[in-house]
Amino acid sequence: MANGSTVLVVGASRGLGLALAEEWLGRGWRVIGTVRTPSSALDDLARRFPSTLEIEIVDISDAPSVEALRGRIEGRALDVLFVNAGICLANEETPSTVEERDFIDMMVTNALSPMRIVECFDDLVTAGGAIAVMTSELGSIENNEGFWELYSSSKAALNMLMKCYAARHAGDRRTMLLVAPGWIRTDMGTQAATHSIEESIPHVVDTVTASVGSAGLRFIDRFGKTLPW
Ligand SMILES: NC(=O)c1ccc[n+]([C@@H]2O[C@H](COP(=O)([O-])OP(=O)(O)OC[C@H]3O[C@@H](n4cnc5c(N)ncnc54)[C@H](OP(=O)(O)O)[C@@H]3O)[C@@H](O)[C@H]2O)c1
Repeated sequence: MANGSTVLVVGASRGLGLALAEEWLGRGWRVIGTVRTPSSALDDLARRFPSTLEIEIVDISDAPSVEALRGRIEGRALDVLFVNAGICLANEETPSTVEERDFIDMMVTNALSPMRIVECFDDLVTAGGAIAVMTSELGSIENNEGFWELYSSSKAALNMLMKCYAARHAGDRRTMLLVAPGWIRTDMGTQAATHSIEESIPHVVDTVTASVGSAGLRFIDRFGKTLPW
């Protein structure tokens, strides 16, 4: 995709989303990056890229906030919609020990809300564009080894909802991606993670960009390798 293409990165305040915004800006793209509350890191990026980074506000789990953003960017053409926002709570708990509220919040933030963003913004994505959602290797049922099981369940639910969305949009020529970034050192990934942000995000951006033009849904890792559902 050419310089001057536009990506909407939902959840760009820190971690992988902030790095996605920076990577695409460095490649000459226009980026609309969203935050829930002001992010000094994204503000710093806006000072480096004053003409190509726009900062918007949205809480993906708050319907009026989502509708307000949709209204503000009405008429824009998105080459890539990338829904990155997510949370991880109670990662060591099990169904018998988790606070029900934590499980509900993860299911809403990680599965329902990203898909509501996709449904709400998909008509802004160009005919040759891509709709991408950040999932996780842990969302693979086949590869499951019981790690962070409640979070994993929320990402498996996200994968299922994206599959249902793709089925409802059979014949859509656009690229649909569930992207697993690897286990990465961020607030969520923790310092115990195996890889740095720099070892993930440039590959994610390469993979999304290279996938454009291939219609249909794929569940892939950062290198573009297909993962088992
Ligand atoms: N790090 C990993 O190892 C790893 C591995 C696999 C998948 N992932 C996925 O990658 C994505 C980013 O993870 P990360 O490691 O960068 O996590 P992170 O550092 O905790 O950042 C999470 C991002 O999501 C945003 N967010 C959370 N809830 C939101 C909401 N309701 N509305 C809008 N934005 C919201 C946060 O915004 P605030 O700053 O406002 O909280 C922040 O920008 C997530 O979907 C995560 O599940 C991460």
